[in-house]
Amino acid sequence: MSVVVRPARALRGEVFLPGDKSLSHRILIFGALSPRALKIRNVAPGEDVRATLRCLQELGVEIEVSADEVRMRGPERLSPPTKVLDCGNSGTTMRLLAGVVAGAGLGATLDGDASLRRRPMRRVLEPLRRMGARCQGARGPDDEERAPLVFSEGSPLSGGEFELPVASAQVKSALLLAGLVAGVPVRVKEPGLSRDHTERMLAAFAPEGRLPLRLPEVYTLPGDPSTGAFLAAAAALVPGSEIRLRRMNANPTRIGWVRALQRMGAEVELVDEGVEAGEPLASVVVRQGPRLRGIRIEAEEIPSLIDELPVLAAVATQAEGRTEIRGARELRVKESDRIAAMARGLARMGAEVEALDDGLRIDGPTRLRGARVEAASDHRVAMSLAVAALCAEGETVIAGGNWASVSFPNFYQTLAALQAAP
Ligand code: S3P
Repeated sequence: MSVVVRPARALRGEVFLPGDKSLSHRILIFGALSPRALKIRNVAPGEDVRATLRCLQELGVEIEVSADEVRMRGPERLSPPTKVLDCGNSGTTMRLLAGVVAGAGLGATLDGDASLRRRPMRRVLEPLRRMGARCQGARGPDDEERAPLVFSEGSPLSGGEFELPVASAQVKSALLLAGLVAGVPVRVKEPGLSRDHTERMLAAFAPEGRLPLRLPEVYTLPGDPSTGAFLAAAAALVPGSEIRLRRMNANPTRIGWVRALQRMGAEVELVDEGVEAGEPLASVVVRQGPRLRGIRIEAEEIPSLIDELPVLAAVATQAEGRTEIRGARELRVKESDRIAAMARGLARMGAEVEALDDGLRIDGPTRLRGARVEAASDHRVAMSLAVAALCAEGETVIAGGNWASVSFPNFYQTLAALQAAP
């Protein structure tokens, strides 16, 4: 479905962000591993988290969804699914559940949509095999393994120490969850610090590193910084804007984009709002930056803003001078090849942008003009191009703009509401 985005009026007002998607997947999985009743509030609304929820139901977990909470209770033991576990578009669902299924020794097949079937899965299968899991992906002409992933009913896993070649929270979490479910110790080292939500939950709910978990009765999720980033970027770009994002997860491994916007000269301020669910909370105030400047974003900081690089690229088109993003080859294997998709979309709108092997080079500022662009079946490309469109001349038509619903179903409505505010 195409979405039409017009140049924006000032964005003003306060937004309570939908719940954090990364944390939502994880708390649903932890809940599934505990036979005690758990209520979860402010669960992330998008299709990705629904995929995790449905897969867990297939594994024998009782889950009820109402307007204001999810109530769940895990079985004594997860049961082998009778159907293929459909992870939809969600890499987090597939990789984290691969760890759970391997840890529990279940026979199961994990599959997904066309985009997920293109993504690399050997990074998670190979260490799981080293732990003793019997699993494999579909092999193509290259050396990669991809979905569908087939797990055979297995013998008990052994623990181990793993050194990951790329910083990936999904792979790290898969291995830690496999260890937890199998009851064996696992240690993971990674080249850079990726988001640490699984470690925080393990420390809080399984301090001895094994089941049974000590879960609270109610778990309330903080707002998603990866959702907030799109609204913040829009406010940084559109003249006269001033917005406040309330109760956002300000975990340092997630808010590299705040630091990047500040370096670009945007007015972004974090105000401490305490702690929720073991994660620091902040409200974020963003005003349009009078003069943005280009910056360099280098390898070490990439994990802390990996999902926000597409929208930072959109902001960079309006910044003076060169912005260069390097060390971000991982962007090529996300829901789409985000380097190619953003370079193509922004160039169509008139930006000076060059796709690099491991990043993007953007020279600004350029006057963007409305164009027909493609979301590339990718929620974050759709939303990033929409942010660029807010400061373009004329209308932009985003083919597949509705992909935003994978993580932020109310994205376009929220933008409209912020523009309608007095
Ligand atoms: C996520 C980890 C990241 C991120 C994804 C969510 C997670 O992926 O891009 O959107 O919740 O663990 P990688 O682990 O592949 O870097």
